[in-house]
Amino acid sequence: MKVLFFTGKGGVGKSTLAAAAAWQLSQKYRVLIVSLDPAHNLGDIFEVSLGDKKTSFSDGLQLKEVDLRKRAKAYLRSEIEALAGTYRYLQVLNLDCCFSVLQYSPGIEEYALLTSIEETLRDENDIDYVIFDTPPTGLTLRFLALPAITLTWIDRLMDIRREILKKRYTIQKIRGPGKEAHTLDYDPESDALLTKLETMRANYQALGRTLRSESCSFVVVFNPDILSRRESERLLDGLHELRFPVRLLIDNKVTPENEQTAAEVEADVGKLAGENVSLERVRLAAGLGGENREKLYYIAEDIASYIEKSP
Ligand SMILES: Nc1ncnc2c1ncn2[C@@H]1O[C@H](COP(=O)(O)OP(=O)(O)OP(=O)(O)O)[C@@H](O)[C@H]1O
Ligand SMILES: [Mg+2]
Repeated sequence: MKVLFFTGKGGVGKSTLAAAAAWQLSQKYRVLIVSLDPAHNLGDIFEVSLGDKKTSFSDGLQLKEVDLRKRAKAYLRSEIEALAGTYRYLQVLNLDCCFSVLQYSPGIEEYALLTSIEETLRDENDIDYVIFDTPPTGLTLRFLALPAITLTWIDRLMDIRREILKKRYTIQKIRGPGKEAHTLDYDPESDALLTKLETMRANYQALGRTLRSESCSFVVVFNPDILSRRESERLLDGLHELRFPVRLLIDNKVTPENEQTAAEVEADVGKLAGENVSLERVRLAAGLGGENREKLYYIAEDIASYIEKSP
């Protein structure tokens, strides 16, 4: 299974090109396109109503819009239940109150996005291409940074937990075994919390490996204008820092009038992306998105071949 992320600044054409790519690839392959943008428009592009469950659009193509609110709540609910299970003695902690406050906490949306990517990659076995249409740069970089940030936290938490277990062990030895009302559990191998942290670490490491593997590609979409160039540079810096594989750049909405700027912006963005990254152009298609619009996913350029031949 190949995995593609269409990324870029707001409004550059990520969804349009992701949809065009999905449609074109679906003529030959089994394709699933998933919108991760809280402001979905995949349904508008394909002119169908979509939800959190996959919808079949044609023989080779399935569509899905991740319901971020629902997923954020489910994510939080499961974490709070785990907390309640671990800290049963903490009756004073009003978990329902935690829930209503925490659902607005920064980071929850990003975790929900990450878990929906993880779930999609885990559950889809009979798909050749999974295409993720992402939100604009800021949110995308934040959720992509999460596995690395979380791993740092998990390692630190594991150190703290081991330290606690060691101290418990020492206290128990001083007091002598069997004198407590219940024996303290000091064995790191059988500690439930450490085991849970270990599992979380393994999951995040696996996701990180998948997103950095040969089968994953990041497509950076930009437009021939200065603002778009600046943001593409920020995005490319972020993706490089996080070591995600950028394999294709698409300069979208090129016209005969902006061709000069297009060439300049392409040179700058191309240089920053580095060698071995394909660069392609997509022209501004008349009639797309207008009143009498042609279908938005009917882009004349052969995006599927750009993807197939990118490194
Ligand atoms: N090659 C193109 N030719 C003509 N119109 C285009 C082209 N690409 C995108 N558009 C139009 O540009 C607008 C923005 O496109 P789109 O919604 O795909 O961008 P986006 O990057 O996904 O935006 P957002 O960040 O808001 O999700 C839409 O009206 C779309 O129809
Ligand atoms: Mg979009």
